Amino acid sequence: MFLCVCNALNDKMVRQAVADGARSCASVFGQFGCRPQCGKCIPYIRQMINSGHIAACGEARPRPTERISPGPGSALPLVAVPP
Ligand code: FES
Repeated sequence: MFLCVCNALNDKMVRQAVADGARSCASVFGQFGCRPQCGKCIPYIRQMINSGHIAACGEARPRPTERISPGPGSALPLVAVPP
């Protein structure tokens, strides 16, 4: 699927660029020797960068020290977090 129609960048190309270390849209474009034109793809590329970075860092899972406490009067149940 094309993410950037202006530069003919598809999702596999962007995913590979992120896997190769791209941490910004500019570095993704730079890996392919192009620049953003209309900019409509920027949010999608940014989302792929963020999700790829989170997966690479192992931060997709909730941290054990994080606790969610509902505010007063909230209908949300308390969630037990293992120590
Ligand atoms: S779709 Fe990527 S710059 Fe236009």
